[in-house]
Amino acid sequence: MKKITRITGLKGTLRVPGDKSISHRAIMFGSLAEGTTTIHGFLKGADCLSTIDCFRKTGISIEEKEDTIYVHGKGLHGLHKPEETLDVGNSGTTTRLISGILAGQNFDTVLSGDASLNSRPMGRIMKPLSMMGADITSIHDTGCAPLSIKGRSLNAIHYDSPVASAQVKSCVLLAGLYANGKTSVTEPALSRDHTERMLRSFGANIVSDKNTCTITPPETLHGQHIEVPGDISSAAFFIVAALITPNSEITINNVGINDTRAGILKVCQDMGADITLLNAREEGGEPVADLLVKTSSLRGTIVEGDIIPALIDELPVIALMACFAKGQTIIKDAHELRVKESDRIAIMTENLGAMGADIIDTEDGFIINSRSNNTIPVLYGTNINCSMDHRIAMTFAVAGLNADGETIITDSDCVDVSYPGFFTQLEQLFSQN
Ligand code: S3P
Repeated sequence: MKKITRITGLKGTLRVPGDKSISHRAIMFGSLAEGTTTIHGFLKGADCLSTIDCFRKTGISIEEKEDTIYVHGKGLHGLHKPEETLDVGNSGTTTRLISGILAGQNFDTVLSGDASLNSRPMGRIMKPLSMMGADITSIHDTGCAPLSIKGRSLNAIHYDSPVASAQVKSCVLLAGLYANGKTSVTEPALSRDHTERMLRSFGANIVSDKNTCTITPPETLHGQHIEVPGDISSAAFFIVAALITPNSEITINNVGINDTRAGILKVCQDMGADITLLNAREEGGEPVADLLVKTSSLRGTIVEGDIIPALIDELPVIALMACFAKGQTIIKDAHELRVKESDRIAIMTENLGAMGADIIDTEDGFIINSRSNNTIPVLYGTNINCSMDHRIAMTFAVAGLNADGETIITDSDCVDVSYPGFFTQLEQLFSQN
């Protein structure tokens, strides 16, 4: 449990933990490669630890020495049948990506996670995998995990995905590693492209053309060194905290700013935010920069269309930011928020509403109005129900710093899913005032 009260400003420099999406993929692709993959900057959040646990149970040796993870890959056909159910914890990325891999093995597996994970839709991967000839079923016939996957040889397909989801795209591409020809996926808007970038660096032939990418099954993948950049989805909480808290100026070092992830920077710019990108560079095949963020006077905006996949995980904290902007903000085309770790449209509306914000939910987003003439306080502290959703807990920690009274986050430990150490780093920035 955490109690948060208003602060007078955030100051200092920080480094956020490694990117969650990239950390998962480094373990997975390293396991399927020949030789050792070394990973620096790996995120030791609960989700990525679930991925490590699953691959260890399929016979992969994964060690940690000092700050580096060593994955001793056994090649595309080196995994073994696990002796027990693979526990995917809270992690949708682990579940959907590993399903693509397991569908093409010569053994059977069962995957299951926590209550939130086991209520998230898996039909979106069962459909394309079944088209490839995979034998994947929802054990309780709910369209959700637990999933039974009976490994077999797979057929190459073209899949027109109805959702812009990197998890779906990656699942199909990973199954494509085991298919009898070229497998391609077209998505309605481009989702994060870490799978394509990293699989290419491991030696796979992947061609991307607008929203379609095509994989030719490789003979082998080769172990690599991966430098994991800081996670922009974690940096987002500090970006918004500094923008909305008076007297703030912070620098966040080493943040991944891949275009397919950095939609929040574009939205902040549209809202009039004072953010400067410093030392823009490329590290380990991903664009990276340091971000200098200062308190800003913000205006409302419209967030819609193709940018949504590039900021899908940041929408809760963007909705919070909108409460501090002049005028109206409309967020739409974000129906996917309803099937994340919680129904993030419902939970944000409930909690921001309880804090006094003028927010209404729509089927696929929110409409947020600034309170008349920027009344102070914008928000009032209250008890927050975050449904064990890590990003909701962190969003309301930031809200609490700018609310009158106490904001109480009961399940605050759930931040460990993506950001162990979040509260300590946050406190360090306000103790420096
Ligand atoms: C992820 C993709 C996104 C994102 C999730 C991580 C990934 O999910 O929300 O946190 O690593 O591929 P969808 O693919 O379901 O949009």
